[in-house]
Amino acid sequence: MTYVIALPCVDLMDKACVDECPVDCIYEGERMLYIQPDECIDCGGCEPVCPVEAIFYEDDLPAGLDAFTAVNAGFFSAIGSPGGASRVGPVGGDHAFVAALPPQVHDAALA
Ligand code: F3S
Ligand code: F3S
Repeated sequence: MTYVIALPCVDLMDKACVDECPVDCIYEGERMLYIQPDECIDCGGCEPVCPVEAIFYEDDLPAGLDAFTAVNAGFFSAIGSPGGASRVGPVGGDHAFVAALPPQVHDAALA
């Protein structure tokens, strides 16, 4: 099991979650951030700090967002388990599912 970042992060990328992660396993794409499922230790620290509630425990994903488990895992198919997002920096690109999404509009107060 792992935590998963879902649709509300797309085109917002607040990044408050990154500072909370003790194992630095939240990686930056172009339109959202992704949790490396093999590196996440399920501490849950990231979940409450996201201002748009984009982070879920895998088992608690709402039905409409369940594709994001595979989206987070699939993002790492090319880069594997780098062992630290700050070392890697922005990865560039997104999972194909995210890249194909229309622009996501967010409340101006949060953007
Ligand atoms: Fe995204 Fe929320 Fe983190 S918007 S970058 S999951 S704090
Ligand atoms: Fe990090 Fe969140 Fe997992 S803080 S260890 S990605 S539950």
